[in-house]
Amino acid sequence: MSIVVETLETRTLSLKGYTILIIEDNPNNLGVIVDYLEETGLKVVVARNGEMGLKRAQFAKPDIILLDVIMPGIDGFETCRHLKVDEKTQDIPVIFMTALDDPEDKLKGFGVGGVDYITKPIQHEEVLARITTHLNICDLTIKLKAKVEELTQTRNELIQSEKMASLGRLVAGFAHELNTPIGVAVSAASILEERHQAIIQIIEQEEVDEEDLISALDRIKETAALTLSNLRRASNLVSSFKRTAIDQSSDEIRQFDVNIIIKDIINTLNNQFKRTMIEIKVNCPSQLIIYSIPGALEQILTNFMMNSLIHGFEEGKNQGLINIDVQLLSDKLHLEYSDTGKGIQPDMLSKIFEPFFTTHRAHGGSGLGLYICYNLVTNQLKGQMACESTINEGVTFRINFPVEISLPKS
Ligand SMILES: Nc1ncnc2c1ncn2[C@@H]1O[C@H](COP(=O)(O)OP(=O)(O)OP(=O)(O)O)[C@@H](O)[C@H]1O
Ligand SMILES: [Mg+2]
Repeated sequence: MSIVVETLETRTLSLKGYTILIIEDNPNNLGVIVDYLEETGLKVVVARNGEMGLKRAQFAKPDIILLDVIMPGIDGFETCRHLKVDEKTQDIPVIFMTALDDPEDKLKGFGVGGVDYITKPIQHEEVLARITTHLNICDLTIKLKAKVEELTQTRNELIQSEKMASLGRLVAGFAHELNTPIGVAVSAASILEERHQAIIQIIEQEEVDEEDLISALDRIKETAALTLSNLRRASNLVSSFKRTAIDQSSDEIRQFDVNIIIKDIINTLNNQFKRTMIEIKVNCPSQLIIYSIPGALEQILTNFMMNSLIHGFEEGKNQGLINIDVQLLSDKLHLEYSDTGKGIQPDMLSKIFEPFFTTHRAHGGSGLGLYICYNLVTNQLKGQMACESTINEGVTFRINFPVEISLPKS
């Protein structure tokens, strides 16, 4: 459907494809206006009273309704009320036609859901101008709604793909992390085998030297301890990975210990931070057990930490401090995350939560990290997020969100 309004004078209006319903009891008023409107290409449907008007509105599905105020039976205001409570008709714009020039009545018309009014005697050009305006507004509203839906859909897809990307990073980081303890445990196990061989040799000698035997057994004990500690580290990593992977792939609300989540994230990112001179300090009450969405919190912390590493400390080349401070204040979790990195310029600070804002595009930054964090905090966690920064001193992110608290298990 399209609306072409050239000039009112030339009457080259094309309202083809649109339907108007006129509810009016006076046939004298109807004839002239119907002819006039049909000339513009509008399909005109007429009803002689309120009840009939409601029925026609259901079947003809008009794009707009012209509604007389004073009619026998249910009056225009009542008819409009009915139209506005019915799902099928509530979005159709209603223009009142009234002989009444009383401001009270005009207000009443708006009060029951009318979008406009025209006073009788009706000026044809005025009617047409108002109809065209409201059809235009309707069209724009429909387009706007579609755009909003499209944007919401795109945003959800972006959030989903970022989630998958961070899951990918998590798996890669985890595989790398697991390499060291497993590697050490494998070497230690092969040393155990050699040491076992050495003991057999000692025993097979004619005269067994007790000292040699004890020191060989001690070495076995040390190597077994090394194997065990590395396998324990691997096992802890697997548990932490399992928790993080499950959390990151779901938006589930569950009970968790905030400290453990923070440690899991630091563990997961250890590979990126271990060769840097960045110190990480966590100040969080122990046994802070809450009900919330751990996956969201993990994703936010991961983004903050990666941003500090990449932007604040120049890919980990600079030394500095990351401070994570958590407090529970009147049923809200307050998390303050700060780094002592290079900071964000004042003119950029207002843009960092926007999608695609990045100073790192050339190095693969997408500019979605903080946008996603902001959405997670405000939409999923129903909280607030703000950022402050002083150039060359660092950045502070403050988030707070409501949480359900449960008593620590005894
Ligand atoms: N801790 C920080 N220190 C300095 N600048 C920062 C910090 N965190 C964010 N920024 C600035 O904010 C911008 C936006 O960050 P955001 O995480 O949204 O995108 P990105 O890191 O550039 O890309 P990605 O989508 O890969 O995360 C960054 O490009 C950087 O300029
Ligand atoms: Mg980022």
